[in-house]
Amino acid sequence: MTSHADPAQAEPKPASGTPSAGSVEEVLELLAAGRYVGERSLATVLFLALKLGRPLFLEGEAGTGKTEIAKVLADTLGRRLIRLQCYEGLDLSSAVYEWNYPRQMVEIRLAEVTGDRDRETIASDIFSREFLIERPLLQALEPAAGGPPVLLIDELDRTDEPFEAFLLELLSDFQVTIPELGTVKAPEPPIVIVTSNRTREIHDALKRRCLYHWVGYPSAARELEILKVKAPDTPAALSREIVGFIQRLRRLDLYKLPGVAETIDWADALTQLNKVALDPAAVDDTLGVLLKYQDDIAKVEGSEAARLLTEVKRDLAAEPKD
Ligand SMILES: Nc1ncnc2c1ncn2[C@@H]1O[C@H](COP(=O)(O)OP(=O)(O)O)[C@@H](O)[C@H]1O
Ligand SMILES: [Mg+2]
Repeated sequence: MTSHADPAQAEPKPASGTPSAGSVEEVLELLAAGRYVGERSLATVLFLALKLGRPLFLEGEAGTGKTEIAKVLADTLGRRLIRLQCYEGLDLSSAVYEWNYPRQMVEIRLAEVTGDRDRETIASDIFSREFLIERPLLQALEPAAGGPPVLLIDELDRTDEPFEAFLLELLSDFQVTIPELGTVKAPEPPIVIVTSNRTREIHDALKRRCLYHWVGYPSAARELEILKVKAPDTPAALSREIVGFIQRLRRLDLYKLPGVAETIDWADALTQLNKVALDPAAVDDTLGVLLKYQDDIAKVEGSEAARLLTEVKRDLAAEPKD
């Protein structure tokens, strides 16, 4: 998709400071403002998710920048970020709401002592909003002054299927029924971002509710851009070597490939060690920043790392200087 920007037809820019996501260009600007190096395809799907009010399902390897997208969106749009970190065994009392039993007990005792209320009054008193502990999914349905919040349902692949089924229901009508209280419905649906590291497949039914975007490892050029933004103290020549090395590392058959998070960490680590260029010893000594499995480290350490490094240096020497 190309854009033909016609200044005469351009929509009036919002007053400075007022964030807006009225076009793909504006979403690209939001990402940049949030120091996120994103492609046009990401900006497009984000724009559509916002415009159509559909949840966005982001899938990809760990450390490729999925969670960050939700954070940046909340930050740049000035919305509250509500995060539900998923894990095995996550249940509705941790995700949606639970009754504050200790406080209810205290209230009952007090009522007994003072004897000022009958049973029914006490029951309706203790099952009121005041005694409800709201968890992220319920919080996300609450009206908010600056506009609906960004609801991040992070690493959904870690939960189990019953939870997914519940989520499907929530994402279709943005309401929750609390038997003792009634139905809570969001006046305006939250902006929903669901992420998965793909340790298992997410059900089709849930995916169909959402727009989908695969967050892959960045190209070398984009990864270099990310380093410029996220590890600005790294010398430029070192950044190029780091990216060249990591891009090559990702072609190896390893148990766990390094993500962008590792690239940034490595750049920071090498800068801390006052390195201006990679050398075999520096690579071996810092492999633990990139690889978190001993088998992977054993595979790369020594001759393999030296071989990759030679290739990186050779390719960079052949590149035209800009
Ligand atoms: N495109 C990008 N632009 C800027 N920073 C990025 C980008 N991709 C990843 N990062 C950074 O990498 C780190 C890991 O990202 P994160 O969102 O936690 O990954 P994921 O959720 O996919 O596991 C974060 O510090 C994030 O800022
Ligand atoms: Mg994440």
